[in-house]
Amino acid sequence: MVTSTTKLLLTDMVLGVDHVPSNYVRPPSERPNFKDVQASDVSIPLIDLQDLQGPGRPDVVKQIGQACQHDGFFQIKNHGVSETMISNMLRLARDFFQLPESERLKNYSDNPSKTTRLSTSFNVKTEKVANWRDFLRLHCYPLEDYVHEWPSNPPTFREDVAEYCTSTRELVLRLLEAISESLGLEKNYVKGVLSKQGQHMAMNYYPPCPQPELTYGLPGHTDPNLITVLLQDDVPGLQVLRNEKWVAVNPIPNTFIINIGDQMQVISNDRYKSVLHRAVVNCNKDRISIPTFYCPSPDAVIGPAPELVKDDRPAVYKNFTYGDYYTQFWNRGLATECCLDTFKISPT
Ligand code: OGA
Ligand code: NI
Repeated sequence: MVTSTTKLLLTDMVLGVDHVPSNYVRPPSERPNFKDVQASDVSIPLIDLQDLQGPGRPDVVKQIGQACQHDGFFQIKNHGVSETMISNMLRLARDFFQLPESERLKNYSDNPSKTTRLSTSFNVKTEKVANWRDFLRLHCYPLEDYVHEWPSNPPTFREDVAEYCTSTRELVLRLLEAISESLGLEKNYVKGVLSKQGQHMAMNYYPPCPQPELTYGLPGHTDPNLITVLLQDDVPGLQVLRNEKWVAVNPIPNTFIINIGDQMQVISNDRYKSVLHRAVVNCNKDRISIPTFYCPSPDAVIGPAPELVKDDRPAVYKNFTYGDYYTQFWNRGLATECCLDTFKISPT
């Protein structure tokens, strides 16, 4: 008989289990502790982008700046990505993870440097405890360099995902202008430090879990990139750290969740916060989330914007290349102490 441990992907392994296998079980002090999680709909600001290009721009920019500074997270509506495209993406992701195992496995790789790959957990080569997640990761910019590597099943995958990538990229560029302005920088400043820019996407699939209190979809982490645009289905699972408490973010249809990544924290010289967040799982429903990670290209030199370094606010970080940062991130795994600390100018 084939045992569950011979399965590469969680999606296929879960079919045969009624308990969480021991390699997924966190030590008691590191478990999700659901009774301490705050359920709240208003925890994260919801910002309407409708007026971003009109006379209301200064007010929207201000709201974005406040959210970046105090929450590190915000939700957006009237963002310009159509409802049809959003529902299409969620359906495609669901269809992909329902393909027969042999079809999905054509995309499998455990090597994080591969630009298109299906894998499981976080980094199966380095981690000690596994996470309750399968994911498909795609590089998405420039599209013509990568689309030919993407899955060709479901049949509309490449075309639909490429359209979505173009839309989210336009959205990110509008947000980066607003964020630059909110920091008092010239509106193209942040885009300008990214060099050629990079865009990655994950399709995360979290199967139902028989004992969600023992494990995570993704444990607490900050995102290593510049800024993340998260699309999620209607199943709750995302939690954000706020005043040292975990707060559940309840999905609102057709909104995106935006979060500041480590590179934005560096560029802003710690004005804006890359905040810890995690994904928990549940017994009944599978969950899909689709983050778009916008990032500098590996050769881009990242450091605090000179205009944000003052006598009373010295540079908190040294300059480094994003390539060095990213390698460090994947090697150390998801750890609660943020990878950013490694790049701080040590106190003298
Ligand atoms: C991530 C992430 C959250 C989620 O992929 O970095 O934080 O809800 N995902 O899936
Ligand atoms: Ni994340």
